[in-house]
Amino acid sequence: MAITNTTENYGSVAKWMHWIIALLFLASYVTVYYRHWFTDKDTPENWISLQLHLSIGISILALVLLRIIWRISNTSPSPEPGSPLAHKTAKLGHYALYAIMIISPVTGYIGTGVETEYFFLFDIAKFEDTQLFNAVIHNGLGMTFKEFEAPIDKIHKEILGEYLVWLLILGHTLAALYHHIIKQDRTIKKMTSGRP
Ligand code: HEM
Ligand code: HEM
Repeated sequence: MAITNTTENYGSVAKWMHWIIALLFLASYVTVYYRHWFTDKDTPENWISLQLHLSIGISILALVLLRIIWRISNTSPSPEPGSPLAHKTAKLGHYALYAIMIISPVTGYIGTGVETEYFFLFDIAKFEDTQLFNAVIHNGLGMTFKEFEAPIDKIHKEILGEYLVWLLILGHTLAALYHHIIKQDRTIKKMTSGRP
């Protein structure tokens, strides 16, 4: 299997990054809703599941930055036959997925009032304690962390987390299945086995 993309298939690096990030998205949902539904406030489980959510989210941000660098320094496989509108929609959908892979973790990080204990290995300072917060939000916009946190939290949880993110991923997954089952083309194969 080639490391880089070819005109027929995604290469191994793009495939691994795609599927690892997909699993991390699933894990970010599992951890945060495990915390909501199955843990009580102020218990170790409640804290551990929150910290796992934060660590997974930050890992997604780090990986997607590498993925974007890899993506722009590589060719992309040619699309399967389809109308120009279908190709444009697929492209737009992919850009939207890249956007949420960045905006979700960034809004999560800047709207969180606790440090991230990254997989309990080392600590990452909370945004409120950074020079950037002080220079831009506190001194520049004259806002306290509490004032800044409320709208950012709304975007992270109520707009992205509860709706946009999973709906986009669902649409993307259904589109992939439509190609595989109904159109029976190579769309899924390009991102998996690479077989003809
Ligand atoms: C792609 C990455 C991420 C996704 C998809 C995501 C998704 C979510 C979802 C679905 C929720 C629950 C929304 C609700 O209240 O119903 C949530 C809550 C939260 N997220 Fe994220 N998140 C991500 C990254 C992050 C990061 C990087 C941080 C901070 C470093 C973070 C901090 C939080 C916090 C503090 C909550 C509230 C937890 C709670 O109320 O139990 N998230 N996120
Ligand atoms: C079970 C879930 C998933 C399936 C079956 C799936 C399937 C696929 C397939 C078949 C492609 C190739 C499409 C093409 O070449 O036209 C693709 C590309 C892509 N997928 Fe997924 N995917 C899944 C989950 C995700 C998730 C969770 C994300 C991110 C949040 C994501 C982001 C992307 C992006 C950005 C591309 C475009 C890659 C590029 O050309 O740079 N996928 N996916």
